[in-house]
Amino acid sequence: MYGMIHRAVRQMVFDELGEDAWLALEQKLDIGPSELLTGMVYDDALTIAIISEASARLNLSIDACLFEFGRYWIKYAERGPLAAIMNFTGQNLGSFIENLDRLHLAVSAAMPGVRLPSFTTISSAPGHLLVEYRSDRTGMEQFVTGLFDGLLTRFHATGDVTIAEHKASSIIFEIRYQDGI
Ligand code: HEM
Repeated sequence: MYGMIHRAVRQMVFDELGEDAWLALEQKLDIGPSELLTGMVYDDALTIAIISEASARLNLSIDACLFEFGRYWIKYAERGPLAAIMNFTGQNLGSFIENLDRLHLAVSAAMPGVRLPSFTTISSAPGHLLVEYRSDRTGMEQFVTGLFDGLLTRFHATGDVTIAEHKASSIIFEIRYQDGI
């Protein structure tokens, strides 16, 4: 994945455990600043190795770490230079999810080799969404669940994100929620 993602994992480990924990992780994996370049594409195996080391240090399973990283990514994107595009993407959960592909398209314009997921809202009712997620990657379910959970928080809603169906080439997520104030 793009180095931008590695940098966000680094920031999560920094925030939770401090700089020493991240430096120990770098040493263990024999990586350094050259594996963290925002605009470079790295093998997914490296991304998974970083997540897996982070999960051990955070005392989480890999799936729990992917979920937390999904939630973290929303907070991470809300601050700094990505905030504007997040604000532009939608003012409520339903419209934000409707516009996710546009968000990715916009950020990926100058990212050769990027492999982006695609999200389609297949049903939308008050407090209930069914969203189809497609990707050429596997094993990202808990990341996506954490991302949607982070979006609930972003829009001051409470609710549950579950997997409704595994299809041959996509996964249907169900989001049940109540709007906050
Ligand atoms: C400004 C905010 C965002 C930026 C800049 C961004 C950018 C990216 C980038 C660069 C990748 C890696 C692709 C690659 O290296 O091949 C990615 C992957 C991904 N993004 Fe986003 N993204 C943003 C917000 C979101 C949000 C809000 C969601 C919510 C659902 C999301 C869902 C995903 C997923 C699930 C992947 C994993 C790739 C896969 O499943 O194949 N992203 N994104």
